[in-house]
Amino acid sequence: MAMLTILLLSKLLSLFSKFAVATDTITQSEFLEDNTTLVSNNGTFELGFFTPGSSSSPNRYVGIWYKNIPIRTVVWVANRDNPIKDNSSKLSINTQGNLVLVNQNNTVIWSTNTTAKASLVVAQLLDSGNLVLRDEKDTNPENYLWQSFDYPSDTFLPGMKLGWDLKKGLNWFLTAWKNWDDPSPGDFTRSTLHTNNPEEVMWKGTTQYYRSGPWDGIGFSGIPSVSSDSNTNYTIVSNKDEFYITYSLIDKSLISRVVMNQTRYARQRLAWNIDSQTWRVSSELPTDFCDQYNICGAFGICVIGQAPACKCLDGFKPKSPRNWTQMSWNQGCVHNQTWSCRKKGRDGFNKFSNVKVPDTRRSWVNANMTLDECKNKCWENCSCTAYANSDIKGGGSGCAIWFSDLLDIRLMPNAGQDLYIRLAMSETEIITGIEGKNNKSQQEDFELPLFDLASIAHATNNFSNDNKLGEGGFGPVYKGILPYGQEVAVKRLSETSRQGLKEFKNEVMLCAELQHRNLVKVLGCCIQDDEKLLIYEYMANKSLDVFLFG
Ligand SMILES: *[C@@H]1O[C@H](CO)[C@@H](O)[C@H](O)[C@H]1NC(C)=O
Ligand SMILES: *[C@@H]1O[C@H](CO)[C@@H](O)[C@H](O)[C@H]1NC(C)=O
Ligand SMILES: *[C@@H]1O[C@H](CO)[C@@H](O)[C@H](O)[C@H]1NC(C)=O
Ligand SMILES: *[C@@H]1O[C@H](CO)[C@@H](O)[C@H](O)[C@H]1NC(C)=O
Ligand SMILES: *[C@@H]1O[C@H](CO)[C@@H](O)[C@H](O)[C@H]1NC(C)=O
Ligand SMILES: *[C@@H]1O[C@H](CO)[C@@H](O)[C@H](O)[C@H]1NC(C)=O
Ligand SMILES: *[C@@H]1O[C@H](CO)[C@@H](O)[C@H](O)[C@H]1NC(C)=O
Ligand SMILES: *[C@@H]1O[C@H](CO)[C@@H](O)[C@H](O)[C@H]1NC(C)=O
Ligand SMILES: *[C@@H]1O[C@H](CO)[C@@H](O)[C@H](O)[C@H]1NC(C)=O
Ligand SMILES: *[C@@H]1O[C@H](CO)[C@@H](O)[C@H](O)[C@H]1NC(C)=O
Ligand SMILES: *[C@@H]1O[C@H](CO)[C@@H](O)[C@H](O)[C@H]1NC(C)=O
Ligand SMILES: *[C@@H]1O[C@H](CO)[C@@H](O)[C@H](O)[C@H]1NC(C)=O
Repeated sequence: MAMLTILLLSKLLSLFSKFAVATDTITQSEFLEDNTTLVSNNGTFELGFFTPGSSSSPNRYVGIWYKNIPIRTVVWVANRDNPIKDNSSKLSINTQGNLVLVNQNNTVIWSTNTTAKASLVVAQLLDSGNLVLRDEKDTNPENYLWQSFDYPSDTFLPGMKLGWDLKKGLNWFLTAWKNWDDPSPGDFTRSTLHTNNPEEVMWKGTTQYYRSGPWDGIGFSGIPSVSSDSNTNYTIVSNKDEFYITYSLIDKSLISRVVMNQTRYARQRLAWNIDSQTWRVSSELPTDFCDQYNICGAFGICVIGQAPACKCLDGFKPKSPRNWTQMSWNQGCVHNQTWSCRKKGRDGFNKFSNVKVPDTRRSWVNANMTLDECKNKCWENCSCTAYANSDIKGGGSGCAIWFSDLLDIRLMPNAGQDLYIRLAMSETEIITGIEGKNNKSQQEDFELPLFDLASIAHATNNFSNDNKLGEGGFGPVYKGILPYGQEVAVKRLSETSRQGLKEFKNEVMLCAELQHRNLVKVLGCCIQDDEKLLIYEYMANKSLDVFLFG
């Protein structure tokens, strides 16, 4: 009896599976109804009709989602703008070889737009989540007649491209869903700027909201995590006809996607957690205050962790000091003093380390130039305001130069790159000028800048032993890095060598005068809470005793 049941059951099951075997393809003689789906070959993705979110509305959409994830996660929607109101529509391939979605009255709700011809067209859902239209006999991706990956919704899947292809007239960008219940396009988008040094930008309506910075050979200038994300392998393709970014997952067993989240105004990377059966946000952009596009205005720099976060670049001052102190920074900064282009001793470049390079809309790139050639190229043209290596791999190569206002610069602690900004030279600035330094005597109007103790403590890792260069006659000397990347040597006068304030000041003045004899430049001092510090310019190739005893 038991035997018979099992036999019957298996007979039934085999019958059933034959009937219900999932297919990934529809041909020109078939159609997909509201109650059936396509399933990709290995069962990763499913295409069918769905009602989004928790809505009780009758709205139906055709979309693609992960088959094996219990929380329905839709990665692509066909008829985003045009919901179907009932369950009577059909998806099929028409005689022109286009995929069409029609309602019960045969009104077209949505359709593809290919004019390419093929004798027998099939639509296939691939394991990548790509829905393709192709000639029945031709599986070469180059010859797809149409593919959903060319028309992304809000999700960036492995294997998709974001960017543009001028030859094919394609622009791949992401648009968030309006909300959880409504897949129609919201106002939060991510696209790729069509400049010769392209970068990813996010928009809130028509207002630019975020900028990735250009590709620097390793990652995007403003996204340090791209290069350190160990499971995503990004590839950039850049030539005169196309520019795009694509990625693959190194561990193919993981499920990960990037999605534009309208409610948070954030681009999120999510990974599926098998144990908790939830999506976990593994990274999010923008990440902080300084990621807001151009928050500090022209020639400003945003430094996270400082109050206020916006500063003018060295050599620049607020355009409107009143607005600036009221933390209204958008007017930005202007040259601190009258700058004269290519005038000897009045025009030079200052190096800023660890920065996200400026907006590339007004920039120019040549991958074959050296940094020196780049400097000269910039120097030659009076509208050039900055230059940098276009690729930072292996010590740096190539040339990127910027014209007019420098927008959206931020400090990237432990990341970013060197940027050389053109400015008016003056005595107190630390210049890597192209021409010789000004020889004017500084004795009369000399005033040594005062540094604040907290920033020096920060620069030297709280006077850590690791930063100690040595012990001089008056106390220990530490190496430090100021927020802009300037390397300094800090001489901490020991408490046992207690001098009076007056004596210390005299010594400082003496040191400052000594710098004429080309020892080491004194940048400033700090007298605060019993601490007396002298801050020197650090030069790697100067012998240590200069700092210790000089
Ligand atoms: C549509 O819904 C009706 C009523 O719920 C049901 O009888 C019918 O089978 C459905 N048709 C499809 C194609 O799902
Ligand atoms: C889908 O619905 C149609 C019309 O209601 C029905 O004829 C068909 O058998 C259904 N298919 C499945 C797989 O339920
Ligand atoms: C289809 O046509 C009928 C009759 O003209 C109309 O009542 C119905 O609303 C139409 N359905 C749709 C989905 O447009
Ligand atoms: C198809 O092409 C026409 C004309 O080029 C355009 O108006 C329409 O929006 C396109 N439709 C889709 C779904 O891309
Ligand atoms: C299905 O195929 C995709 C693409 O080839 C692959 O990344 C994925 O690991 C496969 N999944 C399974 C369950 O085999
Ligand atoms: C990353 O992708 C490139 C090109 O797609 C491939 O050649 C390379 O092997 C991949 N690297 C890893 C670690 O998967
Ligand atoms: C947007 O992000 C929030 C917080 O991470 C999350 O709760 C929400 O579900 C996300 N929305 C979508 C559409 O993914
Ligand atoms: C700009 O100039 C003013 C006075 O001319 C000076 O006090 C200030 O330190 C300068 N700032 C910078 C960043 O050079
Ligand atoms: C200061 O800000 C106000 C309000 O945004 C603006 O109207 C004014 O022009 C600004 N002042 C300058 C000097 O830019
Ligand atoms: C850079 O050099 C390569 C090889 O020498 C050459 O093919 C390419 O055209 C050059 N590019 C530019 C922008 O000069
Ligand atoms: C300087 O660069 C600008 C912007 O590319 C360009 O329009 C201008 O012709 C250049 N001027 C000279 C003298 O090369
Ligand atoms: C300093 O510069 C002035 C003019 O720029 C020049 O005439 C003078 O010879 C220079 N002095 C020295 C010592 O280099």
